[in-house]
Amino acid sequence: MGAVSFSLDERMLGFFARTLPLQVFLETGTFEGESLRLACDVFDECHSVELSPQLYEAASRQFAGRAGVHLHLGKSPEILRAHRDRLASVPVFFWLDAHWCAAEQTAGAESQSPLMAELEAIGKLHPQSVVLIDDARLYLCPPPAPHRFADWPDFHAILTGLQALSPNHRLMVLNDVILFYPEIMQLEMSLFAHKHGVDWLVIANDSRRFGPKRRRGPGFVRRTRNRLLLALGLRKK
Ligand SMILES: C[S@@+](CC[C@H](N)C(=O)[O-])C[C@H]1O[C@@H](n2cnc3c(N)ncnc32)[C@H](O)[C@@H]1O
Repeated sequence: MGAVSFSLDERMLGFFARTLPLQVFLETGTFEGESLRLACDVFDECHSVELSPQLYEAASRQFAGRAGVHLHLGKSPEILRAHRDRLASVPVFFWLDAHWCAAEQTAGAESQSPLMAELEAIGKLHPQSVVLIDDARLYLCPPPAPHRFADWPDFHAILTGLQALSPNHRLMVLNDVILFYPEIMQLEMSLFAHKHGVDWLVIANDSRRFGPKRRRGPGFVRRTRNRLLLALGLRKK
């Protein structure tokens, strides 16, 4: 559950699918299938791994009969390892999003983040694959309670793990997602980030301005409307 986009950002998905000849979508942590629903409109071959049997079964019902969608029940590193050779041989869109979260029926309570084991299991990247790791904020520094921070890899280890996958990829953190992308698309990546990246300070200031006290006030609807018109360029300050 990213801080900027709840699941996979559709614009980011479309951007990578247009820029790279991606063939396979691979997600860890199916949850309620929100990202997978977006991905299967874009990719002919989609895989998603879930450790919680209840969530896996719900996803199996949801995607029943959907050609090209493959659901896997189990620990993400084990499934990645089992498909390692195939995943290194074609351009893949990796959406690494398996971790414990404070939501009903989710798995991972005993070990909250399998990310390092996932990177080790992937082993090697095709030169045109891209790796997206959701919830960057939980990895940039030890996550706060209720997360058990000892279960989460530190940022330095993640950088080292990513660099071991490919010497020809570059790294960026955009809208709460860690991106590891082919360096040949650096210019396109920078332009996309410049256009779609959010400024955390602006978001923090907005949330202070529209905090709980003011939200209850009678002018809330008017203020929100004005703010929207301002953001859309339809109103002057
Ligand atoms: C944040 S949710 C995923 C959200 C989903 N990817 C989306 O974009 O809508 C994390 C999911 O990972 C699952 N999970 C936790 N540990 C896992 C593991 N080791 N292997 C596979 N899934 C795991 C949880 O049960 C939960 O459903």
